[in-house]
Amino acid sequence: MNKVLPSLLASDFTRLGEEIEKMETAGADIFHLDIMDGQFVPNISYGLPVVQAIAEKTTIPLDVHLMTHQPEQFIAGFAEMGVEMVSFHVEATAHPHRVMQLIHNQGMKAGIALNPHTPISNIKHLLSEIDFVLIMTVNPGYGGQTFINACVDKIEELSEMRKQSGYVFEIEVDGGINNETAEICRNAGASLFVSGSHLFKSDDWKRAVDALKG
Ligand code: DX5
Ligand code: ZN
Repeated sequence: MNKVLPSLLASDFTRLGEEIEKMETAGADIFHLDIMDGQFVPNISYGLPVVQAIAEKTTIPLDVHLMTHQPEQFIAGFAEMGVEMVSFHVEATAHPHRVMQLIHNQGMKAGIALNPHTPISNIKHLLSEIDFVLIMTVNPGYGGQTFINACVDKIEELSEMRKQSGYVFEIEVDGGINNETAEICRNAGASLFVSGSHLFKSDDWKRAVDALKG
């Protein structure tokens, strides 16, 4: 089933509580939280105290997208807050399998994120155990960028591997997702749609969420 994950990076931080409520009423399935460290990506977003506040406020699950080096240092903290999904970048650690195990040991769903240039072959041996693969369709670090079409091939490749293997991971897409690019990704096999600027700038959030679900 297709799910829509608003990225709170695009929300009005001065009215975060109200925007969370409004997006929930609009039918959002899961909130996507972007954690940046100013090292792995050239930007800093927000950290654990803000995630804690969001976790206390929201009634829907949270998906934490770690754009940080040493992702393992934050995992236990997110588990304590009740976060359901955590993804980390394969480019950010020498031991992706161990990080995946840490996330699982804390009772959360584990996702592996890939920058636009990273081939699917890099994560082939995680696919039997991973819960979802996050295909970045922009370079991580900023909202509001343009979708990179070359990433669609990777969604198709992953989808084909899933069919051949019988594995059950989901495919999440993140970056430049709007009605048009969501449809392209949906047709290629994605089912989790992260959207920041497109969704938050829409006049009618409910209609925008419904449209992304397809
Ligand atoms: C980018 C983040 C995204 C970002 C998406 O590094 O991972 O989640 O918020 O924003 P849009 O939808 O505006 O491209
Ligand atoms: Zn993200």
